[in-house]
Amino acid sequence: MKGKILVTGGTGYIGSHTVVELQNAGFEVIIVDDLSNSTAAVVDQIEQITGKRPDFHQFNMQNLERLEGLFKGAGNIDAVIHFAAYKAVGESVEKPLLYYRNNLLSLINLFECMEKFSVRNLVFSSSCTVYGQPDKLPVTEQTPRQTAESPYGNTKIVCEDIIRDYTHANANIQAIALRYFNPIGAHPSALIGELPNGVPNNLVPFVTQTAAGVRAQLSVFGNDYNTPDGSCIRDYINVVDLAKAHVIAIERLLDHKNLSAFEYFNVGTGAGVSVLGLLSAFEQATGQKVNFKIVGRRAGDIEKIYADTAKANEVLGWHSEATLEETLLSAWNWEKRIRKM
Ligand code: UD1
Repeated sequence: MKGKILVTGGTGYIGSHTVVELQNAGFEVIIVDDLSNSTAAVVDQIEQITGKRPDFHQFNMQNLERLEGLFKGAGNIDAVIHFAAYKAVGESVEKPLLYYRNNLLSLINLFECMEKFSVRNLVFSSSCTVYGQPDKLPVTEQTPRQTAESPYGNTKIVCEDIIRDYTHANANIQAIALRYFNPIGAHPSALIGELPNGVPNNLVPFVTQTAAGVRAQLSVFGNDYNTPDGSCIRDYINVVDLAKAHVIAIERLLDHKNLSAFEYFNVGTGAGVSVLGLLSAFEQATGQKVNFKIVGRRAGDIEKIYADTAKANEVLGWHSEATLEETLLSAWNWEKRIRKM
């Protein structure tokens, strides 16, 4: 056993893939998740993939008493990866207090427990949303953050600030924030993947559901952007590659007792892909035609963003590996499995 890792939000999309990679790397995992956007069956699937069952606790991290009880009962926790948060952009605009209360209080409660039980290491799930629409591409970690477009995005900015201030004030705690670009795809076993509640907001689940006949038609939001084919450009990162970046970040924290208190890294592929480009890659990879039409722009969308990954490559020694086609095929295989196709 290399260490005991608490993964908050460990049954969610990125969390579950990270638990698999942690267990495969020899770590012992404890999960806390309130199942607000996932199901307990994910724990079974993780066990099926890895042959090990993570220790699972169901509650919301706003409950400080439950969280303290978990830290107390768990014994020595070596590090925490904090995914647990609400993430629906549109809902956050309608219910900002729900988002601020949940996403900020969960982190604050976590730090209180880490301090009380002498847990030194944190990896935080951040997002390229903190950069807004940058002036210069690709974005490096030095690119200035911008005022968030949504309360959801702002919780990522404020959580990063809380971590910066807290690690500054507390010499015993060090942290790494990973700023994800657009995570897509599923585990090659097709046993875990992205399972959106209701109508998907994100592109790839909408694409796979349309190909599976669950949705009649995909709307492509805008073809009049200043990009080669007019559709928006993003950096789509394979979820297993992303999960591996968390394992490396954990190993870095456990190996280094004197990191500068807070580090952050972009996690993307470095390649910008348009919405229309992604659709043709999907058709190429899967042989499935996707019924789509071009509609107006979606409010709040930025035109283009992709990562400069040099810092993650050089400092973490992490590289994205999967091709876009492999990743889209994994998303399709997952969709087919859950639709029993
Ligand atoms: C969105 C969030 C971002 C969050 C991320 C988490 C918004 C504005 N941003 O990023 O804050 O961190 O998810 O994964 O919601 N598209 C279509 N048709 C669709 C869906 C999407 O054309 O039905 C296009 C979008 O216009 C965009 C691209 O696909 O150009 C990717 O969209 P999406 O998957 O929602 O991710 P982001 O908007 O980049």
